[in-house]
Amino acid sequence: MKESAQLRARIADRTARVGVVGLGYVGLPLAAEFARAGFVTTGIDLDRQKVDAINAGTSYIPDVPTEEVARLVAEGRLTATTDFAVVSSLDTVNICVPTPLRKTKDPDMSYIVSAVERIAAGLHPGMLVILESTTYPGTTEELVQPMLEATGLKAGVDFFLAFSPERVDPGNPTFNTHNVPKVVGGVGPASTVLAAALYGSAIDTIVPVSSPQAAEMVKLLENTFRMVNIGLVNEIAQMCDRLGIDVWEVVKAAATKPFGFMAFYPGPGLGGHCIPIDPFYLSWKAKQSGFDSRFIELAGQVNGAMPHFVVDKIADALNRHRKPINGSTVLVLGIAYKRDIDDMRESPSLDVMTLLHQKGARVQYADPYVPALTARQWHGGFRLDTEPLTPEAIGAADCVAILTDHRIVDYDMVRDSARLIVDTRNAIAGEHPHVLKLGAPAPKLVDREGAPVAAEKAVA
Ligand SMILES: NC(=O)c1ccc[n+]([C@@H]2O[C@H](COP(=O)([O-])OP(=O)(O)OC[C@H]3O[C@@H](n4cnc5c(N)ncnc54)[C@H](O)[C@@H]3O)[C@@H](O)[C@H]2O)c1
Repeated sequence: MKESAQLRARIADRTARVGVVGLGYVGLPLAAEFARAGFVTTGIDLDRQKVDAINAGTSYIPDVPTEEVARLVAEGRLTATTDFAVVSSLDTVNICVPTPLRKTKDPDMSYIVSAVERIAAGLHPGMLVILESTTYPGTTEELVQPMLEATGLKAGVDFFLAFSPERVDPGNPTFNTHNVPKVVGGVGPASTVLAAALYGSAIDTIVPVSSPQAAEMVKLLENTFRMVNIGLVNEIAQMCDRLGIDVWEVVKAAATKPFGFMAFYPGPGLGGHCIPIDPFYLSWKAKQSGFDSRFIELAGQVNGAMPHFVVDKIADALNRHRKPINGSTVLVLGIAYKRDIDDMRESPSLDVMTLLHQKGARVQYADPYVPALTARQWHGGFRLDTEPLTPEAIGAADCVAILTDHRIVDYDMVRDSARLIVDTRNAIAGEHPHVLKLGAPAPKLVDREGAPVAAEKAVA
């Protein structure tokens, strides 16, 4: 086919004009990767602030250094725009827009639909369109393909269409867009070959699969695997808590088995844009065929209950100091959904804070990556600014709840300054009378000299 051979040649000599729609945590690293590989790359986003930032040579995604964006922009290899008119001049377009869930846990396809509508207006023969947004199996062929084919062009023949799941792990110092193998599944063999060629020019390893649906399912298997295993270890943590066994010690020892076991760690619940959400695309799709995905539902229930479990743990901790939650100051340490990043989407810390607020606690937080929490970002309904990570601020709280274990926090300082700590991440090493860990026996109550005593005689 003439079109496919021409695009292959343009990819090979880097003259293909590459576009990325949606310049967030996924899209900006990908656009930077294509630009670095030598393509003139255009990012398209509806958010004018992001577009202006890129054109000014600055990054807003921690995994993409500002110096890199500045260099690529200065060399004329990376530009950004809010105007989809540019699509008609592009050879390839990767779609990296959000795919949230509605409150009813149905997939919200509106961002994909809106982006594809705009791309369809500029679709032309020989163009390659790749969907990267995580979604239910069937989206590429059942939703995107008919919208693009409404132009009269045929997928796999006149233009090329593929799905390739994004596997980026924000904040991961070892694995990034460049060195994480990329799965691709196209509509017809030519689409797969072209998508593999495009990614192959910028990414180390390409894994072709037989169809877009298989590629969509790969991503959902990966994320369901994480969600279910985190659910399992969270249940084991609750069990250990009840049985007086230290789950952290158990997981650490189990992880020494060289085969057949993979360590997952408990925590305050699931967070982020992917793990708590993606498996529900799968259960939604399976339900349409009358299939009930029980593991997903169960893991969702166990993980969803973790913030409540953490609040109970904070109540137990305060009780040891003869204090109620109502009126106590609880400082939540870490509100990003995982360590070393600034992303708070679906963060369980926000659920814990809301529950504490509803019970009358004076809620504070400290997070070196999140300077402020707006009233709309949590259900407390008012703005909070981060407390400084100083011994004074830590020592002023009745209880410090470690919910995200950012590596730059000085946990020795936290341990030495706090009056009482609930540690849901095993961030504080060793046993201490004032540190209660999630999924571990509570330390013995002691008097001022450190001798074990009954509850009513313990130091407050
Ligand atoms: N963040 C992750 O770690 C991660 C990992 C793997 C997969 N994913 C998936 O990748 C997709 C994107 O996630 P993200 O984290 O990059 O989201 P994000 O919210 O950081 O970025 C999405 C961007 O798309 C833009 N956008 C929205 N609608 C648009 C439209 N119609 N046209 C142009 N731009 C539009 C938004 O302004 C935003 O800048 C999602 O489907 C997500 O599930 C995310």
